Amino acid sequence: MSAWAIESDSVTDTVLVVDFGAQYARLIARRVREAHVYSEIVPSSISIEEIRARKPRGIIFSGGPKSVYATPAPTIDPAIYELGIPILGLCYGAQLVALQLGGTVSKTGNGEYGRTELTLTAPSPLCVDWPTTSEVWMSHGDAITEVPPGFVATATSPGAPVAALHDPERRIFGLQFHPEVVHTERGSEVFERFLLDACGCLPAWTHVSIIEQQVAAVQAQVGTERVLCALSGGVDSAVAAALVHKAVGDQLTCVFVDTGLMRSGEADQVEDTFRRQFKIDLVHVKAADRYFAALAGVTDPERKRKIIGELFIRIFEEVARDLGAGEGGAGDEGPKYLVQGTLYPDVIESGSDTAANIKSHHNVGGLPDDLSFDLVEPLRLLFKDEVRAVGEELGLPHDIVWRQPFPGPGLGVRIIGEVTPERAEILRNADAIVVEEIRRAGLYRTLWQSFAVMPAVRTVGVMGDGRTYAYPIVIRAVTSDDAMTADWARLPYDLVERISSRIINEVEGVNRVALDVTSKPPGTIEWE
Ligand code: XMP
Repeated sequence: MSAWAIESDSVTDTVLVVDFGAQYARLIARRVREAHVYSEIVPSSISIEEIRARKPRGIIFSGGPKSVYATPAPTIDPAIYELGIPILGLCYGAQLVALQLGGTVSKTGNGEYGRTELTLTAPSPLCVDWPTTSEVWMSHGDAITEVPPGFVATATSPGAPVAALHDPERRIFGLQFHPEVVHTERGSEVFERFLLDACGCLPAWTHVSIIEQQVAAVQAQVGTERVLCALSGGVDSAVAAALVHKAVGDQLTCVFVDTGLMRSGEADQVEDTFRRQFKIDLVHVKAADRYFAALAGVTDPERKRKIIGELFIRIFEEVARDLGAGEGGAGDEGPKYLVQGTLYPDVIESGSDTAANIKSHHNVGGLPDDLSFDLVEPLRLLFKDEVRAVGEELGLPHDIVWRQPFPGPGLGVRIIGEVTPERAEILRNADAIVVEEIRRAGLYRTLWQSFAVMPAVRTVGVMGDGRTYAYPIVIRAVTSDDAMTADWARLPYDLVERISSRIINEVEGVNRVALDVTSKPPGTIEWE
């Protein structure tokens, strides 16, 4: 323990990550949470009053794409240094600290991009017991050449005369390297030293404490009202439902609409998990016939999506009305709240807190005006990995918690051409084989998505003595971090062969298997 350790008075110590426009802010926020301290991303335009109001234990400045000398360059009110709150500046953030407090940042013409050797020149409270040299990851053009008054320089690198600095009195730190990236050998230790020693945070942000907090928050919000939740079979809605159920028990009703376009076993699994294991009141709407009727003859991808989305809303509305929602007036017993599986990245992306009461949402589509719900969003503070940890802690099956993403319109956008019951069945069976073999090969969690696609054209083949005329199946497997870009997965050939021969032997109606070798861009992950 360092001399700085402060008695903490809260189990939810918060650290603010000030975003200076780098993609790293999110990564920093996640690293902080991995050290079991709650973090929030805030814009650099945040006011001092707002910072003070949030009572952070520490503040971290992210890197940013600009030079501190660019005009305009993102900056922050220098009054932040007077708050007495420990600050850690990373890369651009470190340069900003140096510049604002009276040091010098220069264009040395000696930028560093990628792995770099860091040499410690003096003891650093953030790099305790490090060897004299270690590998770190850098990405900078400018460099700090002179520390501000009160600061000491503690490390250097070939392109950064001052690669680490701190003011022991004010507990302000700067690092030219990026401890948040995995290529920095001991990066996680840097966060622990800053959070635990310099800020005095309690490492109390765990999935158990997340659950306790959210259960209490949902109870406080909902009171004795009834709550509705649409289950999709995916991770987010499942974890949100389980969490809300823990909070309000049988005040929760879940709705699962089986569109006939789900993956193999999905509907049974939802039944098993939510009705039998969790004893949740579940309305299971078997709507496959309605979906196939609505989709008959439709081949245009956008029309398909629209039809599938609108039918979902109609069915959801029917169920909600059956349960008494939207009736209003005295004695209205219907559900007043709707659970949404909104995650923290959605909140950051939307740039502001989403409104507490909305009538439409991209997951549920536009509900009619007279069916207005208040939203319950128990996952809005969480990153996906935290959602999964919470799901496991709540006892949801592994298969649901670790399930790959699946598009809302389901197999409807993986059948290229008209969607028919026969085609959906063939695709579902082929997809089950792809997933089973990918799992068996130990690749399911490594891949972002892996599934089967059916271009609904038929091709000629030969099997046994006979000619066949049947559908092809395309194997689509991609790696990705966020689905914005993706690369086609280099699946081992023997795995591809196994998938291919199993599909052709076991799935009637298929006589050919192909592999999609397109990255995104130019392709998209889904085919429609
Ligand atoms: P694309 O195909 O655009 O997909 O590369 C990116 C990611 O989004 C998923 N996806 C959807 N998810 N509703 C969803 O909830 C949809 O309509 C939808 N369309 C695509 C896709 O599976 C991939 O993970």
